Amino acid sequence: MRGAAIYAGHSAIQLSLGFLEEGFEAAIFGPPERLKLYERFPTLKARLHQYSDPSLLDSLADEGYFLIPTGGVVEYLTPSLVERVRIPVFGLRHLVRWEADWSLKTRLLEEARMPMPRRFRSISEVDRLVIAKLPGAKGGRGYLVTRSPEEIKNWLKNLREQNLITREDDIFLQEYIVGTTIYAHYFQSPIMDRLELTGFDIRYESNVDGLRRLSPRNIGDLKEGFVVTGNLQVYPRERLLEEFIELGEKLVEATRRLIPPGVIGPFCLETVVTEDLKPIVFEFSGRIVAGTNVYLGGSPYLALYWGREMTVGRRMALEVRMAMEQGRLGEVLT
Ligand SMILES: Nc1ncnc2c1ncn2[C@@H]1O[C@H](COP(=O)(O)OP(=O)(O)O)[C@@H](O)[C@H]1O
Ligand SMILES: [Mg+2]
Repeated sequence: MRGAAIYAGHSAIQLSLGFLEEGFEAAIFGPPERLKLYERFPTLKARLHQYSDPSLLDSLADEGYFLIPTGGVVEYLTPSLVERVRIPVFGLRHLVRWEADWSLKTRLLEEARMPMPRRFRSISEVDRLVIAKLPGAKGGRGYLVTRSPEEIKNWLKNLREQNLITREDDIFLQEYIVGTTIYAHYFQSPIMDRLELTGFDIRYESNVDGLRRLSPRNIGDLKEGFVVTGNLQVYPRERLLEEFIELGEKLVEATRRLIPPGVIGPFCLETVVTEDLKPIVFEFSGRIVAGTNVYLGGSPYLALYWGREMTVGRRMALEVRMAMEQGRLGEVLT
């Protein structure tokens, strides 16, 4: 294989550098206004391609490239396109669909027996603080946090009037867990046959993280917003690490049962750690997450397995390299 096709945005810098460092080529594709950034850094010797339609992916496939699924790919190319395109995909191609669909996502987390927030099937059941989510809401835009069924009903009415949803079933009501949101990053290696812990991040969200700077009287009717503006590094207490690793292992096992051969490469569990030190899992991503960018200089967790710090992007490239050397590419690309 010649190299990685990477969508412009999300974790493209980390991915391009990682694949270049491992001796591959990197092809960054996207709308022209997004490509500009990647010409600015001299060490980032990626080929840039304007993307107007999926035929570009076919020609990149013909040139020996494989596609890296990222948040940008899932959001802008859509999961159904990722499932259809001819270009080989790093990781388990069909997992993108599971991630994009709440009922599939919940099924997988339940199969893995993850500790999860309670889900409410109807508004009348709501008896505590809940977070109401829209389908496909990206970056938490438009979420509602409330304990009032009345408020949820009004919110729904507004959404219907704006044609943002058609049925009440389209929204997802979940218990709101108070604690520290910690995102745990993993790498499941088919070549090494092991799960590696690659790090953790905390998302900094607008405006929910800014609200604490205001006194209650200045907050007024400002609503919580969960739009990610950046990521912070976090080192969870050491006693939590074993628990995080076991949660990761349970997710790997569940994907093996439901979507054989199971998750390949990077994935993430989105958790809230409560004050009794229990991580509650509210979401997963079956691909590299942008939170891994906190280790642009290399993750000290990966150094525990490899003796040197490296990014998750580099770790992915290393997996492809090892797979090629051992004639096992089919276990890494699907
Ligand atoms: N059950 C929950 N309890 C507490 N906070 C939550 C819960 N679900 C989501 N959040 C908050 O909302 C943010 C976005 O939620 P998420 O469901 O991951 O949507 P998306 O990934 O589409 O932005 C999270 O980063 C977290 O801060
Ligand atoms: Mg999320």
